[in-house]
Amino acid sequence: MTSSVHDVGAEADFEVGQPRRVEIEGRGFVVVNGGSQFHAARDVCAHQGARLSSGRCKGNVHADSVGGHIEYQTGGRTLLQCPWHGWIFDMATGRALADPDRARVRVYPVQVTDGRVLLDLA
Ligand code: FES
Repeated sequence: MTSSVHDVGAEADFEVGQPRRVEIEGRGFVVVNGGSQFHAARDVCAHQGARLSSGRCKGNVHADSVGGHIEYQTGGRTLLQCPWHGWIFDMATGRALADPDRARVRVYPVQVTDGRVLLDLA
């Protein structure tokens, strides 16, 4: 029986707010060190498939609705913006801010143990 937990690198190799792509068994994942917590998702945007690891982390953003007012807020969310068309995903839930009920990426639990970043694909 194989474990679903994969060591994807040293904690020190993940700069805060800098998305990083890792590959496990031929599949790509984006890992983000959000400062107080790590997050991971499939490295495939829910819109047209761009690599989210080529995007950038954003400040804290609140969107009223699709195409509606967007404002930056302080808070603890880790947000990642797709490099192609700018969709922004909450890395804790995988949901796109503009359409959270329909647009999302799959997220995975991450923990740091003894300085190692462990991604659980279960
Ligand atoms: S491919 Fe990501 S927003 Fe379009």
